[in-house]
Amino acid sequence: MEKFYCSCCGQVYPVQPTRWRCDCGSFLDLQFESTFDIKKILKREPTLWRYREAIPVARDESVLSMGEGFTPLESTEWNGHRVLLKIDYLFPTGSYKDRGATVLISKVNELGVKKVVEDSSGNAGCAIAAYCARARIRCEIYVPEATSPKKLAQIRAYGANLRRVEGSRERTAEVTMEAASRIYYASHCWNPFFLHGTKTFAFEIWEQMGWKAPHVIVLPVGHGTLLLGTYVGFKELKEAGMVKRIPRLVAVQSASCAPLYQAFKKGWNETRPIEKRETIAEGIAIAEPVRGRQILEAIRETDGEVLAVTEKEIGVAMREMGIKGHFIEPTSAATIAGLKKYLKHLKKEIIVSTLTGMGLKAAGKM
Ligand SMILES: Cc1ncc(COP(=O)(O)O)c(C=O)c1O
Ligand SMILES: [Zn+2]
Repeated sequence: MEKFYCSCCGQVYPVQPTRWRCDCGSFLDLQFESTFDIKKILKREPTLWRYREAIPVARDESVLSMGEGFTPLESTEWNGHRVLLKIDYLFPTGSYKDRGATVLISKVNELGVKKVVEDSSGNAGCAIAAYCARARIRCEIYVPEATSPKKLAQIRAYGANLRRVEGSRERTAEVTMEAASRIYYASHCWNPFFLHGTKTFAFEIWEQMGWKAPHVIVLPVGHGTLLLGTYVGFKELKEAGMVKRIPRLVAVQSASCAPLYQAFKKGWNETRPIEKRETIAEGIAIAEPVRGRQILEAIRETDGEVLAVTEKEIGVAMREMGIKGHFIEPTSAATIAGLKKYLKHLKKEIIVSTLTGMGLKAAGKM
């Protein structure tokens, strides 16, 4: 049976609906043993649930699936370099957040919880709301007032109770945490079951590359749920003897809101408050990432790095992807702007990146 544990003070807790942080105040991780059986994996449907023995949901009846995952890994060429792009806007709600939501809400279903709260810049709220709708679990989604109207419409369409909060993304988090003292906190940043969904990003890359790991993965980072999921996924594969290395993890932030970039460059172990400016990349506009310490550890352990990209570079990348046939949201274009920077000092490495969100979601802001 899986348990919660705190990497800050070492405390261990049983998995209970009311527990979402350690008594010391830190976020929690999950102790869970994943196994991989390639023969079994190959016999299953092409969804992220094919890695069933590595997902911490005990009973198949608890699983809420819309056939999500196993997204294409497209081979493209950039200035003479081959890059593999994981097309993660092809999820039921139009962003990679469904990886985390399908696993977290399946777990919530298994725990018998009837109501949840979540706060989000938009996409995680859409994903949690959609899976709650499938499970007939009531949900309240808190978002900052400035969230793209299309994401708000999407959250409402799933029947969620949408609460718009005046002020910053940080203010939205504060209001939600207050509600989380009474209602299950289905938080993509705090709840480790979400990371045990996003880790399937690593499993799919491993399978699609012929059961191998790439050298480098370039990812967008706000709260770091994709980066940490990727780290957890490859770590589990390494511990199971399935891959030799964890790829170098390269995080991309918007220069207008780059707390991890600052901490990484200055050699700090934690992020510190930054002066946040407006950015079109709303999904990564996170001034205080809950798991900042953990993100920095994962990047340093894998010999990775953090890049910051300007608003102009984001706009250019968005247009370049459009004429390659990919209509992506600005947050995802930031990743591509970072990828282009990284490619400038790349040698002969196999590199993977991703398109995390569908352009239609933020079309009004473009
Ligand atoms: C499309 C898209 N990409 C990337 C991210 C960044 O995810 P995280 O905050 O978990 O790092 C988000 C977050 O909302 C997003 O919506
Ligand atoms: Zn603790």
